[in-house]
Amino acid sequence: IRMDSMATTGFLKGIENKVRGAVKRAVINHHRRGDTVLFSDTTLRDGEQMPGATLEPHEKVRIAQALEAAGVHSLDAGFPASSQADIEAIRLMIGVIKGPVLTALCRTVRGDIDAAEEALSDNPRHKRGVSLFCGTSPLHREHKLRKEQPEVLELITDTVGYASGKFDIVAFSPEDASRTEPDFLVECYKVAIDAGATTIGFPDTVGVMTPEKVYDIIRHIQDNVPNIDRALLAVHFHNDLGLAVANTLAGVQAGANVIQCTINGIGERAGNASLEEVAMALHLNQEQYGVKMNIDTTKLFELTQLVAELTGIGLSPMKPVGGDNIFATEAGIHQDGLLKNPDTYLPYRPEEIGARGIRLVLGRHSGRRAVAHRLHELGVELSDEQVLGVLDGIKEVPKGVSIDDDLLVQLAGRVTAPPAS
Ligand code: KIV
Ligand code: ZN
Repeated sequence: IRMDSMATTGFLKGIENKVRGAVKRAVINHHRRGDTVLFSDTTLRDGEQMPGATLEPHEKVRIAQALEAAGVHSLDAGFPASSQADIEAIRLMIGVIKGPVLTALCRTVRGDIDAAEEALSDNPRHKRGVSLFCGTSPLHREHKLRKEQPEVLELITDTVGYASGKFDIVAFSPEDASRTEPDFLVECYKVAIDAGATTIGFPDTVGVMTPEKVYDIIRHIQDNVPNIDRALLAVHFHNDLGLAVANTLAGVQAGANVIQCTINGIGERAGNASLEEVAMALHLNQEQYGVKMNIDTTKLFELTQLVAELTGIGLSPMKPVGGDNIFATEAGIHQDGLLKNPDTYLPYRPEEIGARGIRLVLGRHSGRRAVAHRLHELGVELSDEQVLGVLDGIKEVPKGVSIDDDLLVQLAGRVTAPPAS
């Protein structure tokens, strides 16, 4: 058989596309049937959108490396059409970040997809993707896009189709999904998957959902999008009602395959679901959710500190996982329990998240045991009566003065000093 070179190229391209399609389907089937929920981190995109959280390209690479070490499946690495710095950061990640898929955010605009292709072209095809979004709610259709439903569907078909000609990994998210009519939402997902989307997202863009509503809508999508078996379903919650983590867990319970979140929950307005909180909730409640995850929880504490340091967005002392007080207590009853067995007053041990350890803070609420324990560590042995004397001394220390080791030893000195003759 003789074939001219153009026909040969066309024939080989056809085979290549078929193989690629088969691999794509196999990967999606594997993830849909498996029991592992995937983490897609958006600290470097949605997180960095937070006022004041600007990151330099080399800082983004450091965070990306720490996310890779923690086992994140994909990184929403930036929005190439919106900023040269995002392109630079993505280019710096290529060759350094080898495990996670790098994705770039795009509007449903062909030029955005071209910009993403340019930024990501040096990454292997199976490790690069695009994440398209387009407002679908009545508010967005009327006031932002000025488009009727059929025009929005056409736009999705056109741009997702265009993206899937260039990328094997294409996500489509109807922006403001939580305020979009459920039936229209189903249509948006259907046309996106028909056009080649491999992941469909459910963003609660303005953070209005509650866990019960999340469960219902995610089930609705899984049960009513006719071609859903050809795509993964991702959830993305903002924290305007303080429910982003709870909503994410409800999404997992209802069968979401991918969780989009950020370290420390940084992001637009009240932020996003916090990766470290979702991961610890799943880690401690694996049986309830029936899913596994590939997150190494021992890397989480360090990640929270790194993101706080590089973004300059500090953490509340009470912030779960990363806050200063998570393993600290001043209360006598808690200190006594922790000294007998740390599990009495902890949900998990510090080493499970790679944190430094328990801190028994001495103050007005402390008890004898913690005082005696710290003095013993400092080489000072006192009788029970003397320890009570030190405690009385602690209670007299003015507000705002912390009881450090020097002050504690001084107070101990007072109760052991021989009475003046
Ligand atoms: O919250 C949101 O709607 C987003 C989109 C870009 C997916 O972050
Ligand atoms: Zn968002």
